[in-house]
Amino acid sequence: MSHDLFEAAKAAMAKAYAPYSKFPVGAALRTEDGRVFTGANVEIASYPEGWCAETTALGHYIMGGGGKITEIAVVAERTAKCSPCGGCRQRLAEFCQPETKLYLCDNSGVVEAVTMGEMLPYGFKGDVLK
Ligand code: THU
Repeated sequence: MSHDLFEAAKAAMAKAYAPYSKFPVGAALRTEDGRVFTGANVEIASYPEGWCAETTALGHYIMGGGGKITEIAVVAERTAKCSPCGGCRQRLAEFCQPETKLYLCDNSGVVEAVTMGEMLPYGFKGDVLK
């Protein structure tokens, strides 16, 4: 991964609205044609109504026209290797392949590279709905 995807995730993290957890998270997705979509977590006083950084990034990705996601970076200020939550793994998997790279970052760059297939080996597959 070029360092710019991490930088994009970190810049997104700076926009997090996380007054309750004080746990800002940033995510960045890159598509095969080079577009980058970012997001931060958004918290709501009614706690269950908040959502994750990855979900914000996916909203931007959809509104930007979608496409094949080739790599994803996630960063959280207060921990190295912030691992996407279960719900976000399923949401990301909707638009990724098992081989799509996911970069877990700390405040200075990538700490570990994994694949979406490793992150969600037995995710729900939409083809059963057909
Ligand atoms: N959070 C994310 O943004 N992404 C994840 O994958 C894990 C958790 C956020 C949600 C909440 O605003 C804060 O981190 C603490 O759970």
